[in-house]
Amino acid sequence: MFANLTSQIYRQAVKAKVFKKSSRLMMSETNNLPKVLVTRPDVASIGIELLKKEFDVTTWSLPSPMPREEFLKSVVGKNGIFCTLTDKIDAELLDMAGPELKVVATISVGYDHIDISECKKRNIRIGYTPDVLTDATAELTMALLLATNRRLFEANKEVFNGGWSSWSPSWMCGPGLKGSVIGIFGYGRIGQEVAKRCVPFKPKKIVYFNRSEKPKEASEVGASFVNFNDLLKTSDVIIVCCALTPETKEIFNYEAFQRMKPNCIFINTSRGGLVDQKSLYQALKEKRIWGAGLDVTTPEPLPLDDPLLTLKNCLILPHIGSADINTRIEMSKITATNIIKALKNQEMISEIK
Ligand code: GLV
Repeated sequence: MFANLTSQIYRQAVKAKVFKKSSRLMMSETNNLPKVLVTRPDVASIGIELLKKEFDVTTWSLPSPMPREEFLKSVVGKNGIFCTLTDKIDAELLDMAGPELKVVATISVGYDHIDISECKKRNIRIGYTPDVLTDATAELTMALLLATNRRLFEANKEVFNGGWSSWSPSWMCGPGLKGSVIGIFGYGRIGQEVAKRCVPFKPKKIVYFNRSEKPKEASEVGASFVNFNDLLKTSDVIIVCCALTPETKEIFNYEAFQRMKPNCIFINTSRGGLVDQKSLYQALKEKRIWGAGLDVTTPEPLPLDDPLLTLKNCLILPHIGSADINTRIEMSKITATNIIKALKNQEMISEIK
């Protein structure tokens, strides 16, 4: 009640221009067009150009995330928000935006940063970008897997630090994929594409765990459905390709790492929140598992003093799964189009129902 009142007063103050507009916002001419806020300037100009043809667009001018205070101020009176996965869309922000807000579109397939039920309560439509980034993310997953099991980053460092003294039979060896059991956690679009890309590496078996069985899709690569426990116990490689939900939060906990094989390679390109990172650190440190490749962590960015960064058997990338140039251009176009369609009461390209 109090929070609601505060946001009402705050919204009125912003509308009455009591707060100065930030110099870090790029605004188009004030007019009667619907108002859209874009939270990053570098979302591929095509998306912003599409929006500018139809709307009054305000864009955050720095390539770093909008500070929360700024976001709360800028969202007042907007009809649409073009956001990224680093922008938390919760009740506080939606209250601040007010009843004019009709659509939130995120340039991502994951939407764990958006409070879906709060949006639904307010009849705010939600757009996202599945499908278009599936191949790019599957590709990056394979790159991370190969870099982790064959120790590419570790080996590359040795070239620069003088550690490369001669060719050596046992130096920089790692487990290959041929003959291995590859376990995929989450057999949706990305999990299935990862499975297809694993086949040419001649694994012994591909197994998967998913909320429901996917016999048709699995038969394309000869993958078999297993329960979570069997996935943990039998896989030489575990690849996490599953959305973060209350059910999957920290599902890879101490217990789970204890059940994995000692030669297991753990790969995560979905969300850091699926992993209890302290337990992962412990498992890697004690060599309970062989290694990990992470494109996602908690938090992001990972602080420079995080213990995971001290481990040689942990390869960390800065959340670049979909960072393929054409993919990001398409994602920008789709996000903008989702907003345009929603504000015209039309069917969006991809909407979370
Ligand atoms: C990236 O992580 C995305 O959700 O698109």
